[in-house]
Amino acid sequence: MAEVINLSIEEDLAIISFNNPPVNSLGLAVRKGLVEALNAAENNVNVRAIILIGEGSTFPAGADIKEFGHPPQEPHLPAICDKIEKTKKPVISALHGTALGGGLEIALSSHYRIASEKTKIGLPEVHLGLLPGAGGTQRLPRLAGIVPALKIMTSGNPISSTEALKIGIIDKIAEDLLLNAKSFARENMGKNNYPITSNIQDKIIDSEENRGAIKSFREELQKKARGLLAPQKIVDCVEASLSLKIEDGLKFERNAFSELMATKQSKALIHAFFAERKSAKIPEIARATHRSISSLGVIGGGTMGSGITVAALNAGLHVKMIEKDKDSIDRGIRNVRKVYERDVEKGRMNLEKKEKILSNYEPSTDMQNLSQVDMVIEAVYEEMEIKKSVFRKLDKIAKDGAVLASNTSYLNIDEIASVTKRPQDVIGLHFFSPANIMRLLEIVIPGKVADDVVATGFHLAKRMKKVPVRAGNCDGFIGNRILSTYGEAAGYIMEDGASPYEIDKAIVNFGYPMGPYQMFDLAGGDIGWATRKRKSATRNPKLRYVEISDRLCENGWFGQKTGRGFYRYTEGERRGKEDPEVLNIIQIEREKKGIKPKDFSEEEILRRYLGAMINESAKVIEENMALRPSDIDVTKLYGYGFPRHKGGPMHYADTYGLNKILDDLNAFSEEDPVFWSPSQLIVDLVSSGKNFNSLNK
Ligand code: 3HC
Ligand code: NAI
Repeated sequence: MAEVINLSIEEDLAIISFNNPPVNSLGLAVRKGLVEALNAAENNVNVRAIILIGEGSTFPAGADIKEFGHPPQEPHLPAICDKIEKTKKPVISALHGTALGGGLEIALSSHYRIASEKTKIGLPEVHLGLLPGAGGTQRLPRLAGIVPALKIMTSGNPISSTEALKIGIIDKIAEDLLLNAKSFARENMGKNNYPITSNIQDKIIDSEENRGAIKSFREELQKKARGLLAPQKIVDCVEASLSLKIEDGLKFERNAFSELMATKQSKALIHAFFAERKSAKIPEIARATHRSISSLGVIGGGTMGSGITVAALNAGLHVKMIEKDKDSIDRGIRNVRKVYERDVEKGRMNLEKKEKILSNYEPSTDMQNLSQVDMVIEAVYEEMEIKKSVFRKLDKIAKDGAVLASNTSYLNIDEIASVTKRPQDVIGLHFFSPANIMRLLEIVIPGKVADDVVATGFHLAKRMKKVPVRAGNCDGFIGNRILSTYGEAAGYIMEDGASPYEIDKAIVNFGYPMGPYQMFDLAGGDIGWATRKRKSATRNPKLRYVEISDRLCENGWFGQKTGRGFYRYTEGERRGKEDPEVLNIIQIEREKKGIKPKDFSEEEILRRYLGAMINESAKVIEENMALRPSDIDVTKLYGYGFPRHKGGPMHYADTYGLNKILDDLNAFSEEDPVFWSPSQLIVDLVSSGKNFNSLNK
């Protein structure tokens, strides 16, 4: 028998344990081993009940996702679940860790389920563009009811075992799972009323109330999960469970699962799952161990400093925040406290926990307080001279071996490091706003940084539950550099004829939560304006420059905060209205340059906008500013709202066809070779018949 499954016979009980670290996923060897173990237990006349349990940290967390996309091999998981359900000897599943996906489906087809208090229970297939394909869509509604089942499966979010007990998914919570499973089996052996919950098959759940719930769920999903296929298919399966016998419902589910597996959406979402995990695998971690971090200094208590402080406090660190004067530190304190007060108001945290976390927060105006912290993150104004002066002071104050990080968005980290006597300790940690919520963290690698400092950045990211991406030290690093380029492309499209509203609509229809002009209005036009002014002296004079945004800023139209930007905002409303005066300004700018506006279809807008994004991304890889294309996908997915079901710009380019991207770039280059000339990497990949994914290996 394969060693990923262990069978031990203890008198009248068979204990089958999963042993496939790290998450006991249900790959081929596990499935084969499980069938063999089940057969052995069934055929052993002494065995009167079977217990399924996970070794290590968890009950199986699902099917083996690495097998998806390859021809499925027998035994299949749905057949195993049927076998468990039909076994004459009662099967008890004992759940700990994360009982997810196919793992939970095994438990659902068992006859009794117990779980420890901390167990997380869920069907997360929807996050992979799939649905539970081993009976989950048919058994869960019968066990827990239509609405809870729909919520669990369409959100994909796990629930606690307390919640699972309340809605009937599990039968008992116990701490010593194996002991409890054994005593339960023995107490009930031979009793006629052994609670074989597989009788769920007989449950009749077709009712007007349930049909109504399904209808409103479907409508809600059309808004909440716009453009996504899997959530609607889950509803189809649940609807089928109302009227179909379980065998037919399972067949219905199987077909729906196979259909989803063949979609671009599921391929993109599976790519995103692995890309996220790959981004933390970097050469420095293989060469060095991280430094130990228990206290953190944060310089600046503005938007970013406060968000970083909250993220660090939540990760259990002691945080010393430094501001330049009394008023500023009072504002910083208010910023931090506001986040926790809101958490308490919303019931996400109790007062005791809030006070406990805040007891680790030490605000002051005296930088000398940072003399003993293990790490400092600077988040002061985005000006090189101010940053340099902060780092000069830090160099004198910080203890030996402290990691010194800057949260700059664009500035050169080597230059910042150069004012210290310890450039090996200086690194870029580029958080995104709001820093306590946004999961992306770009870890920027200047020339002289030590490996263990890089490893420490990744360690901190993990503690803060961030998704880290290793970025080179170029202007804007990975994310903002690429953003600047497709921002330029949007400006060209606008000046050449499309309105900002048409551009936003095309981008939203592609799947972004908002378009670039809605985003500029939200972020505040003044920030981009200041950057453009700063860069004007070094801008390539041959590069086309669109002045429309500058005209808006000169009017004081900075977006939502001033009530006007590309859109007009009425007090209290977040959605803006189209503004004819903005269209007028655009027309004047076109006339100044003698541009005759042309019509742009949504498709053409996308080809240019995404073409510019993909071309700049390729240059980032070519210049070794990103380790691999999937890191760019992760950056754009987690920091910039790229639709996850499209996998990120690099995956999208591969799916669309890199040769077609190259054709577009060549065609656009005829209008403007300075901006549109294709990256050499794209040219080389196309000529050798390869794609971006070939560089992820
Ligand atoms: N298949 C294959 N590999 C998996 C996996 C799975 N289901 N789940 C996790 N892994 C791998 C990860 O890729 C990672 O590999 P690496 O070390 O080489 O990078 C390793 O296991 C550890 O994973 P995490 O880093 O994510 O560990 P965490 O402790 O942070 O999280 C977890 C654990 C909550 C289980 C998380 O990994 C997770 O959510 N996994 C996916 C669960 C899932 O989607 N299950 C449903 C699968 S589809 C299915 O079951 C279909 C069925 O209905 C027929
Ligand atoms: P902010 O203006 O909200 O905050 C900056 C804070 O630094 C102010 O509170 C100011 O009083 C304080 N400060 C200035 N000089 C100081 C000094 N010498 N000592 C102590 N405190 C000092 O700015 P924000 O938005 O928080 O940006 C900070 C940094 O983070 C910048 O480098 C910015 O580029 C970067 N960043 C900003 C993002 C954003 O979306 N706002 C996103 C990612 C990075």
